[in-house]
Amino acid sequence: MIVSLYSTKGGCGKSTLAVCLAAYWSRTKKTALLDADPQASLSVCRPEVLRVPVFADTSKDVGKTIAKLAGEYERVVIDTAGYRRRKNVEALAHSDFVLIPCKPSPFDLREAMEAVELLREIAGDKGSKGRKGTQPRYAVVLTMAQRTAVSAQIREELEHSGVPFMSAQIGQRVAFVETPSIGFPPEGSVAALEIELLAKELKRRIKT
Ligand SMILES: Nc1ncnc2c1ncn2[C@@H]1O[C@H](COP(=O)(O)OP(=O)(O)O)[C@@H](O)[C@H]1O
Ligand SMILES: [Mg+2]
Repeated sequence: MIVSLYSTKGGCGKSTLAVCLAAYWSRTKKTALLDADPQASLSVCRPEVLRVPVFADTSKDVGKTIAKLAGEYERVVIDTAGYRRRKNVEALAHSDFVLIPCKPSPFDLREAMEAVELLREIAGDKGSKGRKGTQPRYAVVLTMAQRTAVSAQIREELEHSGVPFMSAQIGQRVAFVETPSIGFPPEGSVAALEIELLAKELKRRIKT
């Protein structure tokens, strides 16, 4: 199962979610992280807390790397660059599922819709067909959500947008800021539960 984190917007929580999901799956599944972002955010994570191998490929051959990793690992989580980039398309086309993190702000919502647009283009582009001729499925996930009117409003707009949208959401929490040094939120924390619920919903969506 190959899951990419993607948005045309930087700072929306892609790398954080990539690390947390990989850390979650690594408990029960052979899992790898692939850094396809030239900014190489995953390289700042402490290897001893990640406990999953981190590979990096920002080349146009990233599809080959993904296919190879998919043969060796049960879960491959891919962190992509936060802008429109041809090489991202290659990674997305080879994914089983693409998660598009969106912060609760109108600017971020617009960027999430841009990302959706690109995924629709990939789906219509026969040249970008991924593994086994499949098309990536995708959904927007609300991140850094707060108990504010604007968070509720963005969630409502997403729900009514017709764009696939995850029920699970990720809150604005210090545990997530600490991800590069702790790997996974503390056991029993709300942050840990949010990642678990997100991972479970992803699995359900990929299966159906
Ligand atoms: N759920 C969250 N709660 C609080 N801060 C977060 C959360 N997710 C990410 N952050 C912080 O937001 C910033 C951007 O996150 P990052 O994962 O690097 O985004 P991206 O990879 O999309 O650029 C980082 O400083 C990170 O610690
Ligand atoms: Mg990043």
